[in-house]
Amino acid sequence: MASSLRFILFFSLLFISSSLAQTSFRPKALVLPVSKDPSTLQYITHLNQRTPLVSVNLTLDLGGESLWVDCESKGYVTSTFLPARCRSAQCNLAGSTACATATNTFGLFPENTVTRTSTYGDLGSDVVSIQSTNGKNPGQVVSELDFLLVCTSPFLLEGLANGVQGMAGLGRSRISLLSQFSASFSFPRKFGLCLTSGRNANGAVFFGDGPYVLLPGVDASSLLTYTPLFINPEVGGVASTDYFIGVKSVKVNEKIVPINAKLLSINNTDGYGGTKISTVNPYTVLETSIYSAVVDAFANELNATRVASVAPFGACFSSKGIVSTRGGPAVPPIDLVLQNENVYWRMFGVNSMVYVSDDVLCLGFVDGGVNPRTSIVIGGHQIEDILLQFDLASSRLGFTSSLLFRQTTCANFNFTSNA
Ligand SMILES: *[C@@H]1O[C@H](CO)[C@@H](O)[C@H](O)[C@H]1NC(C)=O
Ligand SMILES: *[C@@H]1O[C@H](CO)[C@@H](O)[C@H](O)[C@H]1NC(C)=O
Ligand SMILES: *[C@@H]1O[C@H](CO)[C@@H](O)[C@H](O)[C@H]1NC(C)=O
Ligand SMILES: *[C@@H]1O[C@H](CO)[C@@H](O)[C@H](O)[C@H]1NC(C)=O
Repeated sequence: MASSLRFILFFSLLFISSSLAQTSFRPKALVLPVSKDPSTLQYITHLNQRTPLVSVNLTLDLGGESLWVDCESKGYVTSTFLPARCRSAQCNLAGSTACATATNTFGLFPENTVTRTSTYGDLGSDVVSIQSTNGKNPGQVVSELDFLLVCTSPFLLEGLANGVQGMAGLGRSRISLLSQFSASFSFPRKFGLCLTSGRNANGAVFFGDGPYVLLPGVDASSLLTYTPLFINPEVGGVASTDYFIGVKSVKVNEKIVPINAKLLSINNTDGYGGTKISTVNPYTVLETSIYSAVVDAFANELNATRVASVAPFGACFSSKGIVSTRGGPAVPPIDLVLQNENVYWRMFGVNSMVYVSDDVLCLGFVDGGVNPRTSIVIGGHQIEDILLQFDLASSRLGFTSSLLFRQTTCANFNFTSNA
């Protein structure tokens, strides 16, 4: 691994001068704020990078391979970018072989996973700086001097939120934010994801282990239930960088929904089927037959008048008579049953329903059509205000129930620094 250039720096507010001090300070964990863009429903984070440092807004991509940024439209001003040379250790790390011989620069094909477009980009490294945390507050800012990123063209930004300059991938690859931060700072390969829907509010990504403390003092990492994570081998031997879990059945109001079980497992020959989690899908997407079965079961169990559908949803109801509770509208719970009957991910109204107006509530799932690559894609609305912990070392996902039942939310990390 290209570790010779990796140092940990910190900017101490105690020093009046702007000099950088090299230190043996080793952070326990790192934290990034994540907000939700109301028009695209994308989750946006910002990283400070380059020399001098600039703040760059990025669409968060849970399954994304890399950090990629548009280096052309506003220019890429830095004194510390180093292109990855062909046959260098960095190229090995990125695991591809696209070498532009004219420039002796190594390239990749980063993907905009919102629009599913991809184009060539140069691999290189630059400074990235990020806040460390003790799990309760942000601490010293630490820097990684040779963070690998892909420099590409503004064309790839189409479909992303206004002001965003790229995407921040947290996926299963050796050059994702997760992998680079855990390698540089010797963390376990784990991160916590806690998303909020609140306007002007920040959820968080925590790199490294818990505690992940939310005001008024709830350590969400102590509330986790675990289920195995699976690797989708996909086609051609290139494994997917997405995170898959093993849903065995779906229940509505504790009653099993009839589903073709074949759709729920990953076909190791062609990579189709299975269940993954995504931050670039605002709502959960279900293969058509699963969608119809879940909608029918839900409409059956919910004692409310069905009204005309409001796109993109296919099942909407009058909100009259549906009471509001701490866990959102009181509707039948939807369970994703996991490795056994006793382990299930239960979705309450706050995560299953979407208010499209004061009078109309829709089941916040969308129809993914016939024969989609992945049968169930759990989307953003369904993972808000719960903590997910992706633990690659143990190949498991930790998940909590809605934090609203614990009198807190993902917007409650205290981003106020102690300094
Ligand atoms: C980046 O996001 C922040 C906070 O959401 C916002 O204030 C800022 O204007 C954004 N930057 C750009 C270039 O859009
Ligand atoms: C898996 O995919 C292959 C190739 O598409 C197909 O021939 C096979 O029937 C599938 N297996 C199952 C169990 O569906
Ligand atoms: C459904 O509504 C009807 C009429 O309001 C009521 O009699 C019945 O008990 C309700 N059923 C459930 C399961 O809430
Ligand atoms: C957040 O942390 C700061 C710094 O430790 C502290 O001064 C402040 O009281 C905390 N805020 C709350 C609401 O606890």
